[in-house]
Amino acid sequence: MAGTGTSPSGVPLFDLRLEPEDVRAVMEVLETGWLTLGPRTHEFEAAFASHLGVRHAVAVSSCTAALHLAYLAAGVGPGDEVIVPSLTFAATAAAVIHCGGTPVFADILGPHDFGLDPDDVERRIGPRTKAVCAVHFAGYPAAVDRLRALCDAHGLALIEDAAHAPSADFEGRRLGAWGRAGAFSFFSNKVLSCGEGGLLATDDDDVAALARSLRSHGMISGTRSGQTGETDSYDVVGLGFNYRLDEPRSALLLSRFARLGPEIERRRELTRAYRGKLAGMRHVLIPYDDAGVGRSSCYVMPILVDDDGRRDAVRRRLRDEHGIQTSVLYPAVHEFTAYRRRFGEHRLPHSERVARTEITIPLFAHLDEATQDRVVGALDEVLAG
Ligand SMILES: Cc1ncc(COP(=O)(O)O)c(C=O)c1O
Repeated sequence: MAGTGTSPSGVPLFDLRLEPEDVRAVMEVLETGWLTLGPRTHEFEAAFASHLGVRHAVAVSSCTAALHLAYLAAGVGPGDEVIVPSLTFAATAAAVIHCGGTPVFADILGPHDFGLDPDDVERRIGPRTKAVCAVHFAGYPAAVDRLRALCDAHGLALIEDAAHAPSADFEGRRLGAWGRAGAFSFFSNKVLSCGEGGLLATDDDDVAALARSLRSHGMISGTRSGQTGETDSYDVVGLGFNYRLDEPRSALLLSRFARLGPEIERRRELTRAYRGKLAGMRHVLIPYDDAGVGRSSCYVMPILVDDDGRRDAVRRRLRDEHGIQTSVLYPAVHEFTAYRRRFGEHRLPHSERVARTEITIPLFAHLDEATQDRVVGALDEVLAG
């Protein structure tokens, strides 16, 4: 039913579709009169923890909040460094700076795989390194086995930015469950979304306790639950934040979570179909491989054009001549003005190449074959011209 309201003749990059049961779930919460952190949030946390196979899931207001708490729980503070990719959303790095730490950018494996290169990570480990953050780009697993071994060998925390990766796995273990903590996003355009929301997953009791405390002002209540109104007093035991998730969003997440499995399967089918249709096309490179698709949540469909001078013109023609919306995931974070000013110039050849040649083409669970063919046909025409 409800969609994002894009023009009927155009092809949106992403389209959100809510079902009547989603709306009912939210309405039921509104009628209860309890709107913030409460039973729906706890139910969602339990369901997500069990899905991931971890002991704790702490729902928060965004993935940025989850990353901030994950870095704090890893002990990141002033003077500490965290090794992060540059081919990511800025939040992966910004949350390090919010802890007082310094993001150290490492390169990705290459145009075939946008995950962090463990060899480059190893070269950048120094006396101030506290943690490594692996981003599972588009839900394709980063080399978490090698990164985890590297972190264990050097006494570092592995943090997973699993913003794109609900329901994705590597070697039988869910992404987000490989590191000290995993951070998920439920932002509007993500595979599981509620508008704004996030979650920190962990097997570590101390990390979970700190995250639960800091998401709510570092408060612990007195002898009784604050929700019953019977609490006499409370104490503040840390410098916390308001990172709580509210009940209407949790109800929406719970309702949509029930359909996540089939929706991810559909995304995988569509991704395989795209790969088949684009396979012989000139001037296009398709990252990852068919085996990777089966492990991924297929959040987006990235392609690369073979000539970096052409990418922006190709995107413009897709939009102006064919009504097809595209995006770039991602401009490299180390090249943003704020990061160049703060941390100077760096060279990350693979990340820079992808940042200049990548085009993200439309993908969402209810994309139909005719629309997909229209996207492929338009790309063929524009790239040939
Ligand atoms: C890789 C990555 N990390 C972090 C975030 C931040 O997520 P949120 O908007 O939920 O804070 C995003 C959001 O787009 C993302 O793509």
